[in-house]
Amino acid sequence: MPEALFQVKRLSELAQAGQLKGKRVLIRSDLNVPQDEAGNITEDTRIRASMPAVQMCLDAGAAVMVTSHLGRPTEGQFKSEDSLAPVADRIATLLHRKVPLISNWVDGGFQVQPGEVVLLENCRVNVGEKKNDDALAKKIATLCDVYVNDAFGTAHRAEATTNGVAKFAPVACAGPLMAAELDALSRALANPRRPLIAIVAGSKVSSKLTILKALSEKVDELIVGGGIANTFMLAKGLPIGKSLAEPDLVNEAREIMDLMEKRGAHVPIPEDVVVANELSPLARANRVPADQVAEDDMILDIGPKTAARLSTMLAHAGTIVWNGPLGVFEIDQFGGGTKMLAAAIAHSPAFSIAGGGDTLAAIAKYGIENQVDYISTGGGAFLEFLEGKTLPAFEVLAERAKD
Ligand code: 3PG
Ligand code: MG
Repeated sequence: MPEALFQVKRLSELAQAGQLKGKRVLIRSDLNVPQDEAGNITEDTRIRASMPAVQMCLDAGAAVMVTSHLGRPTEGQFKSEDSLAPVADRIATLLHRKVPLISNWVDGGFQVQPGEVVLLENCRVNVGEKKNDDALAKKIATLCDVYVNDAFGTAHRAEATTNGVAKFAPVACAGPLMAAELDALSRALANPRRPLIAIVAGSKVSSKLTILKALSEKVDELIVGGGIANTFMLAKGLPIGKSLAEPDLVNEAREIMDLMEKRGAHVPIPEDVVVANELSPLARANRVPADQVAEDDMILDIGPKTAARLSTMLAHAGTIVWNGPLGVFEIDQFGGGTKMLAAAIAHSPAFSIAGGGDTLAAIAKYGIENQVDYISTGGGAFLEFLEGKTLPAFEVLAERAKD
């Protein structure tokens, strides 16, 4: 395992050293899960992924408090739909124990004994949370002896519970989920086994321009897909019909390709594509060479020759970073490229890491969850990490590790 990008204190080390026994431990998790209209949890990956930290603290004899945000509530105005109540129930089911939900907890006044866990109501309802208010952070820090940040999904936010509390708590460390994310990202990007191949796909270059630029300096092959690929095709002088693209960004695309080529790296441009006249489940899909896209065609997937070529590349990769499906995979006739690349990633001996909402949906659709080495729980946090930004949660934990 290459060195982590940030050296942080780890909860597992404290647990092993017996430093949690009888201690008040506050865990900031990311339990921000999707819910239906009635408030039922529709997908609980983040809750399940957050349980090892809680269990580790309970096993070590700590009095455990867990908090998280849920949605984007207005500070100071708690509404019942903002409540973590469904999350408390789910945790109780997963851990087979009682999980009391505590409201208005910032000033303390609630009980939690060693070996018990409580859930502290939606932290984003506290006034000052979003602005990372020091006064709020200090108050919260007095509730605990040890602060644990296990909320990778919120690591890109500098808020009181993700950053401020870490400054003021007696001890601040990374939970096992945070540590696993950090290790996987370090392995993929800090000192990767080569060739390093990134797949960056999505509708717009503009929304992923910083990622494309940051990765273009590191990777050996930058596979682009979706509207992003169309803009790169345009930059290569290929016809793209009425496909989604950003002609304004053709120069940026060209620059990325030129800079990469100078150091022997590439953006593989599709040699064939799947086109249709309309984007609909009933659309008739046609496969055409990349230089024969007609004026009223829309490119909705890479073609089979391209998919085969990219699959061969992925089979020989050392490391794969995947963000974004290649085509409109939700509609089967435009999902062939994503499906084939998913299979190639699944079978590749490379260390593979994937993240981002659409990517997880594609992984689920093609059933390769167990064959991707690491699936990030981060959406925005994963993307900002790929952009090369320093995440505020890592930054403060690294700072506190020097104590
Ligand atoms: C997410 O869902 O990406 C995280 O929980 C962060 O939520 P936010 O975008 O509301 O800060
Ligand atoms: Mg969100």
